Amino acid sequence: MLKGKKIVLGITGSIAAYKSCLIIRQLIKRGAEVQVVITPAGKEFITPITLSALTSKPVISEFFAQRDGTWHSHVDLGLWADAMLIAPATASTIGKMAHGIADNMLITTYLSMKAPVFIAPAMDLDMYAHPSTQQNLRTLQSYGNHIIEPGTGFLASHLEGKGRMEEPEHIVASLEQFFSQQGSMKGNRVLITAGPTYEKIDPVRFIGNYSSGKMGFALAEECARRGADVELVCGPVSASMQTRHPHIHRIDVESARQMHEACQRLFPSMNSAILCAAVADFTPATVAAQKIKRTGDDMVIRLKPNPDIAATLGTIKRPDQTLVGFALETDNEEHNAQAKLQKKNLDFIVLNSLRDPGAGFRTDTNKITIITPDSQTQHPLKPKTEVAADIIDQLEAEMNKK
Ligand code: CTP
Repeated sequence: MLKGKKIVLGITGSIAAYKSCLIIRQLIKRGAEVQVVITPAGKEFITPITLSALTSKPVISEFFAQRDGTWHSHVDLGLWADAMLIAPATASTIGKMAHGIADNMLITTYLSMKAPVFIAPAMDLDMYAHPSTQQNLRTLQSYGNHIIEPGTGFLASHLEGKGRMEEPEHIVASLEQFFSQQGSMKGNRVLITAGPTYEKIDPVRFIGNYSSGKMGFALAEECARRGADVELVCGPVSASMQTRHPHIHRIDVESARQMHEACQRLFPSMNSAILCAAVADFTPATVAAQKIKRTGDDMVIRLKPNPDIAATLGTIKRPDQTLVGFALETDNEEHNAQAKLQKKNLDFIVLNSLRDPGAGFRTDTNKITIITPDSQTQHPLKPKTEVAADIIDQLEAEMNKK
């Protein structure tokens, strides 16, 4: 999977820098080409001579190669690479990456990088656990970078043993897994709904919910990363929610009715659909043309049911199509999820329990159970990006059965 892949390896000033040699050896053994970019502090821990001998390439560390005006182009490196791996990544480099402080060749290369970026943090526990570092890691992850760490990821609540760099063989295995999935959904069209819906009461008020859209966006990125073309039908989410992959086509809607229309129109030309949006079940029976004034009396808003998008798609689903739903439950979780799976004619349903801390709305993490007509798989609490990979693994398995 790594054969012929071009990897930019960023090395920073950590004692774990010596392990970069093992990473290089393993990457090269698997047929990858490695270009090292090292920070000035990195060179205090490992010599460029060792690194260039291992990679058979001069190591890049300064903007200018010699004092003769020859300079290294970080832009060219950004275009050349199939992936950038920063291992070890110190707290300082992580901070500079998160804030775009381009004061060395490694950070300028990162800022020009067109390929996916993997970061293997290495520092002592106190530095790792500091809210600044944690926030910077979250920021980097929200920009689509991949954090490689021992254990269940940096968002895990227990920090014991954290900060230590992941072992070289696991780092290389993460890259291999990444490349092995790339293209596995090529030629597939996937419809994904995300976010809340807003149901209008009058020109200035609406009924909404707390859905952020993060889970749906993570699913869209994961499908696109695996080569699928994604139609992302998205309710009103915050302006910071942006798609990154060019194969994601975003359609913004506001109400459940608009989302229903878009999905009905798109679904026949799709191979699969994942209904992740938190769709309002009811909408005001009438929308006031003018802002409703305070009268001093009680206020009653009469609601009428909205169409059920999942159920509609379940009725028009062809045998070759795969349909996935979500169930957000507070009680009787598995029973309710099973019932929804049947009623809406879904291939599988992703259950979130609001009883699990860190799961559901407005979090960066989620804890899910995947329920098919004949199986149940519980997954531990993970960042939503990793949860998305578990869901898409299941989607691919279901699609392969068709
Ligand atoms: N869903 C939908 N259209 C709706 C309501 C829900 O497409 N009008 C989808 C959701 O996107 C989700 C699944 O149906 O994939 C289950 O949503 P949920 O709100 O848990 O279920 P409901 O059917 O609305 O049941 P209830 O609110 O009674 O729990």
